[in-house]
Amino acid sequence: MNRIKIVLLYTVSLLALTSRAETTIVTVEAKAGKPISPDLVGIFFEDLNYAADGGLYAELVQNGSFEYNATEQTTWGPLTGWEFIKRGGGAGELWVDSSCPICPNNPHCALIQITSAGEGVGLSNSGFDGIPVKAGEKYNFSVFARLLNVGDRNHSKPVGKLPLNVRLESKDGVVLGEANVEASDPADWKKLTATITVNQTVPDARLVLLAKATGLIALDEISLFPQKTFNGRKNGLRADLAQAIADLHPKFMRFPGGCLTHGDGIGNIYRWKDTIGPVEQRKGQANIWRYHQSVGLGYFEYFQFCEDIGAKPLPVLAAGVSCQNSTRTRGTGQQCIPLSDMPAYIQDVLDLIEWANGPTNSTWGAKRAAAGHPLPFGLKYLGIGNEDKQTDGFRERFKMIYDAIKERHPEITVVGTVGPAPNGEDFDLGWKFAGELHVPIVDEHYYENPQWFWNNQNRYDNYDRAKSKVYVGEYAARDAKSRSTLRAAIAEAAYLTSLEKNGDVVQFASYAPLLARKGHTQWTPDMIYFNGTGVFPTISYYVQQLFGLNSGDTYLSTTVSDSKEFAASSVRNSTTGDVIIKLVNGDNISKALHIELNGLTPLPKNATKTILTGANADVVNPEGGVPAAKPEESAIEIGKVFDYEAPANSFTVIRIKFK
Ligand code: AHR
Repeated sequence: MNRIKIVLLYTVSLLALTSRAETTIVTVEAKAGKPISPDLVGIFFEDLNYAADGGLYAELVQNGSFEYNATEQTTWGPLTGWEFIKRGGGAGELWVDSSCPICPNNPHCALIQITSAGEGVGLSNSGFDGIPVKAGEKYNFSVFARLLNVGDRNHSKPVGKLPLNVRLESKDGVVLGEANVEASDPADWKKLTATITVNQTVPDARLVLLAKATGLIALDEISLFPQKTFNGRKNGLRADLAQAIADLHPKFMRFPGGCLTHGDGIGNIYRWKDTIGPVEQRKGQANIWRYHQSVGLGYFEYFQFCEDIGAKPLPVLAAGVSCQNSTRTRGTGQQCIPLSDMPAYIQDVLDLIEWANGPTNSTWGAKRAAAGHPLPFGLKYLGIGNEDKQTDGFRERFKMIYDAIKERHPEITVVGTVGPAPNGEDFDLGWKFAGELHVPIVDEHYYENPQWFWNNQNRYDNYDRAKSKVYVGEYAARDAKSRSTLRAAIAEAAYLTSLEKNGDVVQFASYAPLLARKGHTQWTPDMIYFNGTGVFPTISYYVQQLFGLNSGDTYLSTTVSDSKEFAASSVRNSTTGDVIIKLVNGDNISKALHIELNGLTPLPKNATKTILTGANADVVNPEGGVPAAKPEESAIEIGKVFDYEAPANSFTVIRIKFK
């Protein structure tokens, strides 16, 4: 009998030992904490993939200012997106004119001569893949119109009145809603507005503008906005997309690029001053991604959005050089603003700071106030340069800009750049240069395969804490064919735990481009895909969201007994008092964890557990329908020691509330 007992005991202990040996031990030492960046996880918005026009910017008309041109796409011109229509006996002519612009920044307009009104002569526009409208909702229409005297090339003589009917129509011509406006004397540009209430939900309507009498009329800046924009802002943002971004709880937003900022040759550098003020006076241009940016979503709207979602603005300006890889300059490489023009360029940089933060009686602060924001925007960080090749031309110009900001605005933290890759010549030279200049933060970028992110868990462990801090401005795990898989998202989650661990040196991190319009994508992977009516977050989106929702400002020492395809981190959030443990299992089988919480008293019995996982590492969230992987929340019993089985390919967040 005793022999049997002994054998049994032996077997049980052996089993326990074996299973403990296969168990990964996670130890959290709450007393061993260090302060980390409270703003670690933010977002990177680039006007790429139709992220602005046709995307976040809620304008529904495409090419409303008649400024598309062949440098953007060879088949494009001012009438791209427009169709000339003559209904029921209507007759006339349409042409593009640049002799009487609203503003030199917006040189082209459409001229329509109506010789017989019939049932209407005018224009139609189908927006971006059709105009999505919803039953019962109201839409704000506006157009700049000017009546001209037929044959009067100087456009000097006043003429009578010209009624215009504006309507939304389905593809088969059903009127979904309409309104009337009237162009009249004096013979100058006048903004006409109307509200259209829609009676049917249609994903692909078109806007039709019909002149109802004979005459000659100039039209420009034709616009249609849903009244329901994000936060009800005028000239605002698409509500569903903006909400999806707000739901990430980003701590900062980098904008407007990316390569877009330094542009396709120096003539194409993104100039923030061209993007503020009345929309019809802004200066749109071709963007580096080969489509037109109206800059209707301009610096004011970017800053306002940051404020609306509680994200710190992190604008990026070119370092006086253009993109070394842009197609127009390929072969000649990076172009530099002539040194004689640099003082004016530097003044633009300084003016941005005054515009964002200056008092309302300053030149640029007054412009911000006039746009509706008398209070300062509270700009603290300013990016200079993006992935620039570390040439003498770059270095000279960066230093000029950097010195001027340091001297005039020591309160602004400059974020420099160290090339496009996590290593290599530009990376090394960039770090050396940043060290010489004592640049406070530098921007590192990496798009690598998922395994790279697992292999580089310790990348920042031994970074010299006395050197520049790090902003991981762009990164993404690029799985095969750039698919946004669970595997990639889990690798990113694991990597983010390592950034939390090194949150004393890594100040900020933002994932790859935020938005991509389906069918108009120039870059992958991206975080959120969308079309006219739907928003399709990737699994990576949910990883970012879980970090955004579960940020901390103190890192608690977290050790794991086995880090093969497993990562963990713990933080405390001093605002809520909560302790948050993040556990990432990149293995294809579940992992038994034994978790020890030291120094956390009095420990509640329960916590919240949020798990992001899917059927296998290859799953990709479908565009529409039931997501293949989405965070799911439940309660978990905890104690000073407790066991947890982390599912295969999973990211788990355990949040312990102390208050
Ligand atoms: O994110 C897309 C592009 O990738 C960015 O414009 C550039 O900074 C990076 O190379």
